[in-house]
Amino acid sequence: MNSALSLLLSLLVSVSYCYSPCARRYVRGESQPEFMVCVCNATYCDDFPPLGTLDANSAAVYISSSVGQRFERSTVTWTQKTDKSSQKEGKLVVQKPVSIDPSVRMQTILGFGGAFTDAAGINIASLDSATQEFLMQSYYGPNGIQYSMGRTPMASCDFSTHEYSYDDYSGDFALQNFSLTTEDYQYKIPYIKRAMALTGGDLKLFASPWSAPGWMKTNGHMKGGGKLKGFPGGIYDHTWAQYFVRYLEEYNKNGINFWGMTMQNEPTTGIDVNFGWQTMYFNAQSERDFIKNVLGPALQNSTLGKNVMLMTMDDQRSNLPDWADVVFSDPVANSFTPGVAVHWYQDRESQDTLLNLTHYKWPNKFLLYTEACIDQGGPNLGEWARADDYSHDIVKDLNNWVSGWTDWNIALNMQGGPNWVNNVVDAPILIDASKGEFYKQPMYYIMGHFSKFIRPNSVRVGLTMASTDQVAGVAFVTPTNQRVLVVRNSNLFETDELMITIPDRPGQVLRVTLEPETIATIVWN
Ligand SMILES: *[C@@H]1O[C@H](CO)[C@@H](O)[C@H](O)[C@H]1NC(C)=O
Ligand SMILES: *[C@@H]1O[C@H](CO)[C@@H](O)[C@H](O)[C@H]1NC(C)=O
Ligand SMILES: *[C@@H]1O[C@H](CO)[C@@H](O)[C@H](O)[C@H]1NC(C)=O
Ligand SMILES: *[C@@H]1O[C@H](CO)[C@@H](O)[C@H](O)[C@H]1NC(C)=O
Repeated sequence: MNSALSLLLSLLVSVSYCYSPCARRYVRGESQPEFMVCVCNATYCDDFPPLGTLDANSAAVYISSSVGQRFERSTVTWTQKTDKSSQKEGKLVVQKPVSIDPSVRMQTILGFGGAFTDAAGINIASLDSATQEFLMQSYYGPNGIQYSMGRTPMASCDFSTHEYSYDDYSGDFALQNFSLTTEDYQYKIPYIKRAMALTGGDLKLFASPWSAPGWMKTNGHMKGGGKLKGFPGGIYDHTWAQYFVRYLEEYNKNGINFWGMTMQNEPTTGIDVNFGWQTMYFNAQSERDFIKNVLGPALQNSTLGKNVMLMTMDDQRSNLPDWADVVFSDPVANSFTPGVAVHWYQDRESQDTLLNLTHYKWPNKFLLYTEACIDQGGPNLGEWARADDYSHDIVKDLNNWVSGWTDWNIALNMQGGPNWVNNVVDAPILIDASKGEFYKQPMYYIMGHFSKFIRPNSVRVGLTMASTDQVAGVAFVTPTNQRVLVVRNSNLFETDELMITIPDRPGQVLRVTLEPETIATIVWN
């Protein structure tokens, strides 16, 4: 079937739900659907098939898969347990009992989202306004995947076109010349504000610095390892804390308020004098002391800062639980710091139980993933395996008490930039300005399988199933009492038949078939 015909057919099928399906483009030919993107332009973009009204005996099932399904919606009915399953002949089908227990309530969800970087804004700005609007709607709109969280760098990071801070005047300890930059006004603020409007103000924003101004650092530059000059609690420390306060004030003047801040992006990289882009060194002890003696009091003393969620670490989870132990064992630092920010880059090499462990030691602190991307040398258009890496990680994290997951750049160009030190990476949306198009990578859909229905303030609930590295799920009850189950099957050949049960439907079962390399979000009332 050629793609024009298949688009036409899916358009016909979609009429009853009134939504726009994926405009497929097969990157390596239709025989390799695991390399497929959905194309959006000024006149067309796919959106999320609405839930509609579910009757009391039905659940909606949304499927995305390596064979090219994207949020494909179907309705499944709860049946009596004695009913026969409709198994397909000649296939390896594994029956998986899945039992959900809403009375076992675990962590509360903060949200899901991505980052407003200079690079993202530069790329979005390169599209005409109609295409830009499709992109923003895709992430934040009621017919999109409804991101509820956003991160933004304080001044420059590697995903900028050059190195800059908000006060590059050496010796300006009073921050008299502190000012936001063209990048804030052109590439961050407009898109943050559009996202805020589309989410009805329901966007949790947090900011992270990559480095203090070069003149405040021991190495004289934002790039490369180094720490704040002077002695702990000295003038550089106090100036750096006031920089956070000024940042909140300047953004507030532009109509943007922050839910949170991380103290420092990837502080451990600052030990490396040759580090390739902006960084600044803290270890757990120096972060604890800076929070306790300088930053915590400065934020508490500021109208805009006092309710900001100040997160510690913002680095790889291999630093857990020690980092949390050092910061939270101090009662004063503890009182200023409600949560731990975690990056995903070493998750394949470190145990997910480190998250568990941190939670059990510090049950009143939240764990939030604050950065993730596929950093294997730029984008690979349409690659399903990269999306599967995302879902593998997200399911594991959520099952280990993580309260939310924030992707990196919301959009990049076809080379995975711009990035002033050429540290190009992949992103869920890639933009080809020369064609006036953007492409939704499989990763975009994976993010949506979590962000769309696991609304902020949803609570993870008990789930019992025989999980493996390939087949695993996670269950929630939302604030409107919807039940949401996300299950992934990354096996190449095994089909699973989920047999879902829940105590409030005694004697009933919901049967959902999960083909190989598939993720499903299952929703019922
Ligand atoms: C935009 O995308 C739609 C759907 O794929 C397509 O029919 C239309 O021709 C595209 N417009 C342009 C200008 O490429
Ligand atoms: C602030 O900027 C002005 C104009 O560039 C400059 O003359 C002045 O010295 C700066 N102030 C400080 C404290 O660096
Ligand atoms: C608190 O704020 C006041 C007025 O803005 C300022 O004078 C004082 O130095 C601040 N204290 C701290 C600890 O930041
Ligand atoms: C840690 O998390 C896993 C899920 O990855 C869970 O099965 C396990 O029971 C947890 N450990 C403890 C000690 O609760």
